[in-house]
Amino acid sequence: MTYKPELAPAFNLIELPSVGSTNDHAKQLARSGYPAFTTIWAHEQTAGKGRQGNVWTSVSGNLYMSILLRPAATAAQNGQLSFLAAVALAETVKELMSKPAQIALKWPNDLLLNGKKAAGILLEAEEDWVVMGIGVNVAGAPDGAASLKECGTEAEAGQVLEKLSARVKDLYDLWVKNGFTPIRSQWLHYAHNVGMTIQVRMPNETFSGKFLGIDDAGALE
Ligand code: BTN
Repeated sequence: MTYKPELAPAFNLIELPSVGSTNDHAKQLARSGYPAFTTIWAHEQTAGKGRQGNVWTSVSGNLYMSILLRPAATAAQNGQLSFLAAVALAETVKELMSKPAQIALKWPNDLLLNGKKAAGILLEAEEDWVVMGIGVNVAGAPDGAASLKECGTEAEAGQVLEKLSARVKDLYDLWVKNGFTPIRSQWLHYAHNVGMTIQVRMPNETFSGKFLGIDDAGALE
C-alpha cells in the first residue's frame, strides 16, 4: 500500500497523480492567492523542469514536490532558500538512510549520494512568493545519477515528503528568526569540493575558480 504522508498543520497538501510540473502548478496557485505552505505532490510530471532550462525526467516512484512560501524578505534573501532546501534534503536522507552512503551538497543546490546527483532544487519567485521545487530520485535515477534505493534507503516517496517537509518547516522558522547564518554553517558542513577548482556554468558563460564556500548572503566565495 502506498504510504500516506502526514504533514505538520501549517501545510496544505495537494496530491496529484500526474501534472506537467509541480512548480508550474504551485506558481498558478501562488498567483491565485493560496497561502504559504501549500504543497503540491505529484506522482508523475509530464513536463518536469530542471535548472537552466533542463528537463527533469519523471521516473516512477520518485518524489516531485513544490512548496509555496511567502517570505517577507528581499529577492536576494529569498535566494538563500535554495540552500535551506538543500540542507533539509541532506538531513532527511541522513535520517532515512539504512546503510552508510556519502551525502554531499554541490553548489548551488544538488544533493549527491556517493558522488552522484540524487536530488535537485528549483526555486522560482515573484515579488510576494517563492516556489521551492524539489525532485528526489527515490526509487530510480536517469543514467549517471543515483537513487536513494540503490544507495540502501528503502523509503517511499511519501515518507521522504513527510520528513522533508518537516525539515523545511523547521529550517524556515529558524531562517525567519535567525537569518542565514545557521543555514549557511549547516550547508558548509555538507559542502562538496571546498578548496577545489570548480566550473560554474552561467546562462551565457562558464568560468572556473577555487571554491571556498558561500558567504553570509549565500554568494560563492
Ligand atoms: C535541477 O537540479 O536542475 C533542479 C531540478 C528540480 C526538479 C523539481 S521536481 C519538482 C519541481 N517541479 C519541477 O518541474 N521541477 C522541480
